[in-house]
Amino acid sequence: MITERRPILLCICPALISGLLLSGCFPKKVGPAGPDGKRLTWDMMGAEQRKTHMKTAVMPRAAELFRSWRPENYAVTDCTLCHGKGARTGDFHMPTGHLPRLSGDWTLRPEFEKYPETTRLKLDRLVPLMSEALGKKSFSLVTRRGFGCYSCHLGPSGPLFGN
Ligand code: HEC
Ligand code: HEC
Repeated sequence: MITERRPILLCICPALISGLLLSGCFPKKVGPAGPDGKRLTWDMMGAEQRKTHMKTAVMPRAAELFRSWRPENYAVTDCTLCHGKGARTGDFHMPTGHLPRLSGDWTLRPEFEKYPETTRLKLDRLVPLMSEALGKKSFSLVTRRGFGCYSCHLGPSGPLFGN
């Protein structure tokens, strides 16, 4: 019995593993072509390439999202929306103290209690939009790593979750 099953297992395992690898293939190559002709991932891009990518792939979509959410506050937005004054002096470091610090609770319970609307918007729309634009995996509750709230916001005493 056991010897009969083995070949099947040997067949299925590589198929399963390559399936998992393909579906979970991060980081994605979202940037311009590099020296070898292959597109670059966000992490491989240089400072100028990152700026251009922010301008073309992030800014228009983020501006549209914030504008459609609260036109009265976000009719006109620019790089300072996320980067604060740093954007004017070339400091684009994230996460940033320009944005309000969050609780540090990875379940986001305090945020859902205090700011239900913005927390929903961020979780359902902004985080997926940003992850896609940067070719990064969204924050995972299992690994507690990935692109999420703390990729932009600081926790009570500094960066959290590997950011
Ligand atoms: C919606 C929020 C948002 C807006 C708007 C935005 N950025 Fe960013 N930016 C980020 C985040 C988040 C990161 C960090 C990405 C990462 O590494 O995970 C980042 C990173 C960067 C970096 C790389 C910083 C580093 O340490 O290498 C540059 C450069 C940058 N942004 C430039 C810009 C420019 C220029 C604009 C305006 C055209 C802009 N950004 C608008 C969210 C934003
Ligand atoms: C791409 C960057 C980015 C990410 C990711 C992000 N935020 Fe924000 N957050 C912002 C910006 C920009 C503002 C608005 C700041 C402003 O208006 O000056 C903000 C504001 C907030 C505020 C303050 C709201 C208020 O009314 O004062 C809360 C709370 C908040 N975010 C929670 C979250 C939570 C929870 C997540 C994850 C689910 C998250 N954010 C993810 C950029 C981000």
